[in-house]
Amino acid sequence: MTDTVARALDAVPLRVTDPEKIPAERYYDPQFFELERKHLWPRVWQMACRLEEIPEVGDYVEYSILDKSVIVVRGKGGVRAFHNACSHRGVRLANGPGNCAKKGFVCPFHGWRFNAEGECTFVFGKHIFSEAMLNAAETDLVPVRCEEWAGCAFINFDNEAPPLLDCLGPIVTRLNARHVDRLKMDWWFGTLLPTNWKLAMEAFQEGYHVMRTHPQLEALSPPGFSRLGPDADAPPPAETITPRDLVNLNIDFLKSVGDGMAGMVHHTEVAVLEKLRDMDVPDDPQAAIMAFYARAQEEVTKDGLARGAPMFDIAKVNAENEFHDVEFMFPHFFLLPSLAAMSSYRIRPLTAETCFFEIWSLVLRPEGEVYETPSEPTILPYDSRDFPEIPQQDYSNLPIQQLGLHNFKHMRLSHEWEGLISNYHRLVDGFLAGLDRETLRKAENTVNSGYNSPIRDIGF
Ligand SMILES: [Fe+2]
Repeated sequence: MTDTVARALDAVPLRVTDPEKIPAERYYDPQFFELERKHLWPRVWQMACRLEEIPEVGDYVEYSILDKSVIVVRGKGGVRAFHNACSHRGVRLANGPGNCAKKGFVCPFHGWRFNAEGECTFVFGKHIFSEAMLNAAETDLVPVRCEEWAGCAFINFDNEAPPLLDCLGPIVTRLNARHVDRLKMDWWFGTLLPTNWKLAMEAFQEGYHVMRTHPQLEALSPPGFSRLGPDADAPPPAETITPRDLVNLNIDFLKSVGDGMAGMVHHTEVAVLEKLRDMDVPDDPQAAIMAFYARAQEEVTKDGLARGAPMFDIAKVNAENEFHDVEFMFPHFFLLPSLAAMSSYRIRPLTAETCFFEIWSLVLRPEGEVYETPSEPTILPYDSRDFPEIPQQDYSNLPIQQLGLHNFKHMRLSHEWEGLISNYHRLVDGFLAGLDRETLRKAENTVNSGYNSPIRDIGF
């Protein structure tokens, strides 16, 4: 680390000085929240919408982040993004999703109009303005950088930021192998959580919580499956477990994940797995598990292909790429691969102690399948029984954690299992310190990783 970098980091209030300790005030201090608003959010790539939300020319959505609002619109030449403000006197043009193909965006104040390419197409009573006020360079909508990946449009307010894929890093290759750009929405939920946005994300950045938060999954984890050992009040393990029991436990586990997420392991995949309960099983327990997963991957791939889904060869992709159950992309986007289906999360700050959390269930749909694409998330209270069981369990800890942080100095992290939390916090500090673009890009490549990552050297 150079002296300049060290000095810039030192000037960041509440910064992480020990990678294993996260100061609690970072989750509620209004000044820290303000620093994030000023120095983080304007400089990062943000998942702004799924491209399925805007399939036709003229379709648009409004993406908002804190006080900023962006129109993401499918124009004739592709997807574009613009600051959501009429070039006359600044009125917001889009409010939620819609289609502008017929009339364009019409400002409700004085009737100025703009097309999907952001061009100003109509000024009412043009002759009452001086020429200087109406030159096209100034009356057209102001573009925001917009790039596509994984079936999503991403925006960035910073014209100096490196391209999206350069920021995302190696994670792109292993997710592309899983056909992320072909995934389609199964459902989409949203909820307001009474917690800081970072705290909400961190409930999904480690698997250490599974034992206590998701006991139904822990109960189905085959003995020896976890390196962590049993809970203090767990019953003693069954004396004997046969290789067939192990196969059944693994099927039960995957089914429980699928039920608990209402996706991730999709019900079509669970149906395929159910048929493997009587498969031939080797005598050695470890070999039995390996044989089961090999068969499961093969059969789910075959089933998808037979149904006409844009499948990838799951076994081959898993053999050639790192696999992580939860993949995090800085600053606020997640994809959760399992077999072929995935879940996905996006978390946005609202205030220092509230955030908006969205979940998608995504599937590789058979070509030509008729289905309805949600145009907006179904919004539920965070404690709604209509949420799938697993997010319900995760959400249940968050409000009491947010409260607890006010009586608390700093989190103490496991350097082996909770490293992702530390890694991305230190990257936030890099943004708050205004470090140079290349240093931040390299750090982001390191931070973007699967959950249970160890604490890593992010270069500063
Ligand atoms: Fe969880």
